[in-house]
Amino acid sequence: MDKAHGDPVETHAITADAEADAIAQLETAEHAAERHIPEHHTPERHARHGLIRTFHPRRGRASTTQADALTRLWPLYGYTIPDPHHDYHTPAVAPDAAFDRRALFGRDAPLVLEIGCGMGEATAEMAAADPGRDYLGADVHTPGLGNLIALAEARGLGNVRVARGDVLFLLRDSIAPGSLAAVHVFFPDPWPKAKHRKRRIIQPDTVALIRDRLAVGGVLHCATDWAEYAEQMLEVLQADPGLRNRFDGYAPREAVGRPLTGYERRGLRDGRPIADFVFEKIGPAIGS
Ligand SMILES: C[S@@+](CC[C@H](N)C(=O)[O-])C[C@H]1O[C@@H](n2cnc3c(N)ncnc32)[C@H](O)[C@@H]1O
Repeated sequence: MDKAHGDPVETHAITADAEADAIAQLETAEHAAERHIPEHHTPERHARHGLIRTFHPRRGRASTTQADALTRLWPLYGYTIPDPHHDYHTPAVAPDAAFDRRALFGRDAPLVLEIGCGMGEATAEMAAADPGRDYLGADVHTPGLGNLIALAEARGLGNVRVARGDVLFLLRDSIAPGSLAAVHVFFPDPWPKAKHRKRRIIQPDTVALIRDRLAVGGVLHCATDWAEYAEQMLEVLQADPGLRNRFDGYAPREAVGRPLTGYERRGLRDGRPIADFVFEKIGPAIGS
C-alpha cells in the first residue's frame, strides 16, 4: 500500500485489533525477557546474522494516547523492519514489504534517520523546524513510537515516520549507500559494564555502515551523557577514514541545534555532562 496516500480508515478496520494484540504481546514478552534472561545470555553476533544486539528489552506499556496512535495511525506512519532475528518481537510482528521511502513519506526529500528515537520528542521538534527534510525515527520500543506518531499527528507533521525494529537491519539491508542526509544517535544505551561494551552502537563497524549510507556531506550527529562513552565515541569517529569532525573535539552545545531529549533530561538531573559530536562524510580524495 502507498502509505502516504492509502486510506487509513479502511486499513484501520483490518489491522487495529491485530496491532493492539501485537503490542500487548510484545510488552508481555519484553517483561518476561527482562525477568528471566540473565544479562549475559543475550544473542551473540553470529546468531544475529552478523549484527550485535545494541538494545535492552524495555519496560513500559503504551499509554492510552500512544496505544490509540499506534492502532489508528500505524498504517500511515509506521514501517516494521524485516528482521531475521526478531526475538524481541515475540510473538513475531509481521514485517512490512521492502522499505520504500518514497511510498512511506509520499515524496522524495533528503532523509534524516534517528537511531533510537525513544519517545520521539527531539525527532518531532527537529522535523517541525525542518519541513524540507523527512525524519524517520527508528526504535524497538513500541510505546515511544506511538508517542512520536501522536506528536506528529497533533502538530500536523507530514515529514515524520517511524520504523519499528532493529535499525541495524534496516541500515544494512534496506538503505542504499550514499542515500541519507543525516543520521542522529542521541543518547544511545551506554552499556556501562565492561563485558557489555561490545553492544554499544558507536563502534567501528556500525560507524562504517552509517558512513557508507550517508551522502557525501551528510552528517552523523551523536550525543551522550556518559563520559567514558563520549571518549570512545570521539576515538571511533575520528578513526573512521571517511568522516571529518566539523568541530575541534566535542561540538559546542549552542552550535548543534539539538532539542533536549528524554534521556538527556535524566542525565542533566543526575549531574552528568553532555557531549555532542558532529561528523561529516567526506568524498573520496581526488585521484583515489
Ligand atoms: C537510551 S535510549 C535514548 C532514547 C532517546 N534518543 C533519548 O535521548 O531520549 C536508547 C534507545 O535506542 C534504542 N535502540 C538501541 N539500539 C537500537 C537498535 N539497534 N535499533 C533500534 N533501536 C535501538 C533503544 O530501544 C532505546 O529506546
